[in-house]
Amino acid sequence: MDNFWNKRYITEQLIWGVEPSSITVICEKIFKENNTKDILVIGAGYGRNGKYFVENGYHVDGIEISEEAINIGKIFAPEINFIKGSVLDMNLNKKYDAVFCYDIIQLFQEEKRKTVIENCIKHCKNTGRIMISCLSDKDMLYGIGKMIEGNTFEIRNGLTIHFSNEEEINNIGEKLEIMKLGYSKEKMENDRTGKERDRIYGIYKIT
Ligand SMILES: C[S@@+](CC[C@H](N)C(=O)[O-])C[C@H]1O[C@@H](n2cnc3c(N)ncnc32)[C@H](O)[C@@H]1O
Repeated sequence: MDNFWNKRYITEQLIWGVEPSSITVICEKIFKENNTKDILVIGAGYGRNGKYFVENGYHVDGIEISEEAINIGKIFAPEINFIKGSVLDMNLNKKYDAVFCYDIIQLFQEEKRKTVIENCIKHCKNTGRIMISCLSDKDMLYGIGKMIEGNTFEIRNGLTIHFSNEEEINNIGEKLEIMKLGYSKEKMENDRTGKERDRIYGIYKIT
């Protein structure tokens, strides 16, 4: 998978522009209310969301599998502590006040999504918050390509996407209690579709 992303970053550079997602802005307010200082961003890309947290006074570690994304990120958001690694086997020996998972679990099939969620819980303090976003089954790409498993399609060579829904976000795992469920409809700068995309997200506490 890192090959796929490395190639994209080499050719497209700032793939989703330089602005943070609207979900990041909403989360920042909720994280602040929970006295957050330290945030782990998983699948951090070149840091467009992490940068917003840094600018608002947080320490940010960003784990990312693509060396090319990290190279761009070191220039775009040098204040982020980028860590090269996979969210499937991350072991950072640290617990954060918040773990931010924007558009990353959608890249995995069910078993691996569970692994990623377990790894997020492992890296979050008991009093912390976890945000998980995913493209939703209302998104324009839903149903395109070969179906791999429930709500999961190989939309093009090398890219499989899982599309989530309310039921799934409300019941994402036994150890996570949903505090807020939200939707975003957003057109991102530079997005190759040029269209608004539909996401669903949950903000959780650990039970
Ligand atoms: C859809 S992009 C989202 C990037 C970033 N969250 C953003 O919105 O700007 C998914 C990112 O996850 C990274 N990624 C894919 N598999 C990964 C893995 N196993 N471990 C860590 N990062 C991964 C990709 O390289 C890519 O940067």
